Amino acid sequence: MLRLGVNIDHVATLRQARYRGLDHGEPCPVDAVRQAEAAGAHGITAHLREDRRHILDRDIWAIRNAVTTRLNFEMATTPEMIDIALRLKPEAVCLVPENRAEVTTEGGLNVVSQADAITEAAAALGQAGIEVSLFIDPDPAQIEATAATGSPFIELHTGAYAEAYGDGAKRAAELERLAKTSELAKSLGLGVNAGHGLNYENTRGIFAVPHLNELNIGHSIVSRAVTVGLAPAVSEMLRLMDGYPSAG
Ligand code: PXP
Repeated sequence: MLRLGVNIDHVATLRQARYRGLDHGEPCPVDAVRQAEAAGAHGITAHLREDRRHILDRDIWAIRNAVTTRLNFEMATTPEMIDIALRLKPEAVCLVPENRAEVTTEGGLNVVSQADAITEAAAALGQAGIEVSLFIDPDPAQIEATAATGSPFIELHTGAYAEAYGDGAKRAAELERLAKTSELAKSLGLGVNAGHGLNYENTRGIFAVPHLNELNIGHSIVSRAVTVGLAPAVSEMLRLMDGYPSAG
């Protein structure tokens, strides 16, 4: 079964648009956790960015307390975030690159150039019983470097696929890139998750990629929730993901 991790960062983005600097406000990320889980989400994903632009420290602790499925904590590989993760004890951590100027996480981690720091972080988190995943572009060199860090999972960056979706030839090329790198990851013993830019139109296309364990989807689900509600938005995405042919 292909699992759905609902990324709730943008619930906090909407709150911060009005309530930045205040200790209250709406919408509430914890309410989003409850509704997403009640609708069948298999996990909750949240990213505590270094600049605290959406999820705040108080949110991540409240989210940790509320999550009854699995918490996937997205974070940069920094001493501050490693310290928070070791105290927070999420079920999973996804290490992501962070560039303060970017609108969202734009590219995958460069595991090749930061192998030592990532290996050290993955060891510390793994020893604490946290499942570690590295968010990387579908690039064979990055997959091989990930395997060498001892991280058990990758999350394949699907942004290029999402951007290419309107162009049949480019879309096919991106899907092939994702499929080939997923095969390589599987052959190296890595579990494969995927995410970024997936929505109600392009998610079923991802069925062409084998061995997927989990999709992490945020912006599209939170956007749809504004008009139909979060639980229906999550249910609809789960229906689209149903029937994924080759999980495992
Ligand atoms: N996976 C990772 C590692 C991410 O950084 C993000 C964006 O925060 C997502 C998945 C979800 O992307 P989107 O909001 O485009 O669905």
